[in-house]
Amino acid sequence: MKKIEVNLPGKAYQVLVGMGVLDHVADELAHLEADGGVIIADRAVAEAHMSKLALSDAFKVLTVEPGEASKSLDTSEELLNKMASLGVTRDDVVITLGGGMVGDLGGFAASIYMRGLRLFHVPTTVLSQVDSCIGGKTGVNLPYGKNLVGTFHQPAASFVDPSTLTTLGDREYRSGFAEVLKYGWAFGDDMLASELDVSKILARDHHILEEVIARCLGIKADVVARDEFDRLGHRALLNYGHTFGHALEAAGSFALLHGEAVGLGMIFAAELSVELGMGPSTLPDDHRDRISSIGLPVEVETDLDSIRGFLELDKKASEGTKWVLLRDVGAPEIVSHVPDSALEKAVGRLCP
Ligand code: GLY
Repeated sequence: MKKIEVNLPGKAYQVLVGMGVLDHVADELAHLEADGGVIIADRAVAEAHMSKLALSDAFKVLTVEPGEASKSLDTSEELLNKMASLGVTRDDVVITLGGGMVGDLGGFAASIYMRGLRLFHVPTTVLSQVDSCIGGKTGVNLPYGKNLVGTFHQPAASFVDPSTLTTLGDREYRSGFAEVLKYGWAFGDDMLASELDVSKILARDHHILEEVIARCLGIKADVVARDEFDRLGHRALLNYGHTFGHALEAAGSFALLHGEAVGLGMIFAAELSVELGMGPSTLPDDHRDRISSIGLPVEVETDLDSIRGFLELDKKASEGTKWVLLRDVGAPEIVSHVPDSALEKAVGRLCP
């Protein structure tokens, strides 16, 4: 089992990563004096994995429907009402079990119920295991865009068991690896550089999954420790491909999975980097090759006008839309005030 430390002053925590970690959650929680509370779980994930946690009756299960539509203020209110009706107090804890949607939604409920309960994440998708189970971002969507309402609320621990990935549907599984490629392009740690690694990943090899997840979390832990509240420009780099990706997701009513949209968003960012004379001309096709090697889309039918409203409301847009672009692999830069003409050219290159 690997242990990743998130070194935040006064609220440091560990992420345990390894095959079979689910079997240790009950003991770890007892050690952390988490004796009762609620488990906020994706209904489908609860059916598959809840019994492995072997938690006592002091933990009540609240399920939510799978899918991005559950990540709403309405669902948050339902959860908060259920927590109140169960008599949940500040001594209780919230455990989330599921993918990024449940982690963000359950984390949000945990952060505002009685001004904040202790939170634990048990992520069960690639995306949530390599990214959203640490760092403390919580949130729900509004019709105007993704993650427009949320808080920072660090977990007290996260428990990452790659064995949960073996039952994921193929599309969901592959889409999570866009985030892994992101760490390669934005931070220079390419974990899927060889065809052998890609084929092992697609075969869901346990050893490489554990290694890749721990490496991603190690990078993210360092970034979060340097810029917890996303104010200093370090954490924003984790959003490589996300500004355009979030807008694509929201404009398409979430028909694209997050990782699919982020993959397209990274191709867009690579195209824009070249268009603005920053990045090497090989960057966009390198992106296409790598993204298609894990079976994610490299084209999308869209135009600037249909996503513009979502770009302008992106949560990082206090001085106009900010783009994470690349001078080269591992050399990211935040750029704002990009002319529409450059955006239009880059969008045009994504269209079939
Ligand atoms: N997923 C980006 C962040 O946590 O800041």
